Amino acid sequence: MAKTALVTGASGGIGGAIAKRLSEMGYSLILMYGTNDAGITALKETLSGNPNVEVISCDFKDGAKMNSVSRLLSEKHKDVEVIIHAAGISKREIFHEMSTEDFENLISVNIKPLYYISRALIPMMIEKGTGDIISISSIWGSRAASLEVAYAMTKGALEQFTRGLAAELSHMGVRVNAIAPGGIDTEILSNLSVSEKDEFLSDIPFKRLGRPEEIADLVEFLLTKGRYMTGQVITIDGGYTL
Ligand SMILES: NC(=O)c1ccc[n+]([C@@H]2O[C@H](COP(=O)([O-])OP(=O)(O)OC[C@H]3O[C@@H](n4cnc5c(N)ncnc54)[C@H](OP(=O)(O)O)[C@@H]3O)[C@@H](O)[C@H]2O)c1
Repeated sequence: MAKTALVTGASGGIGGAIAKRLSEMGYSLILMYGTNDAGITALKETLSGNPNVEVISCDFKDGAKMNSVSRLLSEKHKDVEVIIHAAGISKREIFHEMSTEDFENLISVNIKPLYYISRALIPMMIEKGTGDIISISSIWGSRAASLEVAYAMTKGALEQFTRGLAAELSHMGVRVNAIAPGGIDTEILSNLSVSEKDEFLSDIPFKRLGRPEEIADLVEFLLTKGRYMTGQVITIDGGYTL
């Protein structure tokens, strides 16, 4: 029977590429997204050969909805073996000028779903003795990020979640890893001006942005050949942080 993977941020660049790859690998899919109906519809069309694709819309800023979706997951989706948390937002702003709303939104989208979704599904993973939780962090999860302090805080939290939970669950067959990308060519970079993007590009030794499919490659590796790994945060950035 096909294994089931849940992907948050499936309507986005990285989440969408991971969803496609998982489908090619034979997974049944639960795709979660926020508000981008067009994005998820386009993705579903590319997955039309996979009869086992379910879509759940959930705006993670809505705490009550997040709660009810995680209840639904624990009651109805006991078979999820892979959780990919790729949903995320960024906000470039001087820290002390950031509004409370923007700060809360970063926490709600970047961190909280991992808590709710993992809490709902880990008991079944433990019962089965197998499971993978992979979150998409950022190179800013472990480095100083001027103008992205709050974003970096959320990514640092993902990385500590990864290490701590891996230690807690490793003897029960559940592996927890994270991927820390540098610049990947998706919509999220639209918050950079043209000159900021040019400057960023010139600082990348490979002189190009990464492709979402290159993140999907790493996910595939973790789920296949990299099965002796847990608690790791893997950087993929074209040499930017060297
Ligand atoms: N691209 C990069 O350069 C880069 C670098 C480092 C790390 N990352 C991380 O990679 C992850 C994926 O980003 P991306 O590059 O694929 O960006 P993206 O194309 O903008 O995708 C972001 C995804 O997050 C979802 N999302 C945003 N707000 C949400 C909300 N309130 N509720 C539910 N879902 C929500 C979006 O869904 P809707 O649009 O449907 O709401 C979308 O599917 C993020 O965590 C990001 O921080 C990206």
